[in-house]
Amino acid sequence: MKRITVNGKVHTVDADPAMPLLWVLRDELGITGTKYGCGIAQCGACTVHVDGVAVRSCQLPLGAVEGEVTTIEGLGTPEAPHPVQAAWIEHQVAQCGYCQSGQIMQAASLLDTHPDPSDDEIDRAMSGNLCRCGTYVRIRAAVRAAAGKLQEASS
Ligand code: FES
Ligand code: FES
Repeated sequence: MKRITVNGKVHTVDADPAMPLLWVLRDELGITGTKYGCGIAQCGACTVHVDGVAVRSCQLPLGAVEGEVTTIEGLGTPEAPHPVQAAWIEHQVAQCGYCQSGQIMQAASLLDTHPDPSDDEIDRAMSGNLCRCGTYVRIRAAVRAAAGKLQEASS
């Protein structure tokens, strides 16, 4: 048994400690916004936050989860979206959508530590999140827009 907090709610999970967090979220807890892409930490589709830091949930065993997990479902709400989510909608970033929860979680984590990133910093931070639909130009524009909104809010 392992107790983990996901999106502010405590869960007791009866699963193999070696089970990747991705499958705990999807199969044990029914939280399915986080996607499976490669399973080997190479695509970023499974990105979630642990204590605000972006991690690849496909490679994080349940037994090693220390800290509060946030998934795309917990980042914002339809009424009060996270600035990154709002920018994603404004810029209509998604195409098929499959990679996008991971992209958004990666971008939100970037802006936590770099509230005003350069294009290079954005490209570097997002380079491990693959998009088969090629939405990279809109991703960068949306990250820039979200950064601008955060700057406005803090000034
Ligand atoms: S599914 Fe985790 S990085 Fe691809
Ligand atoms: S929007 Fe289709 S894979 Fe990224």
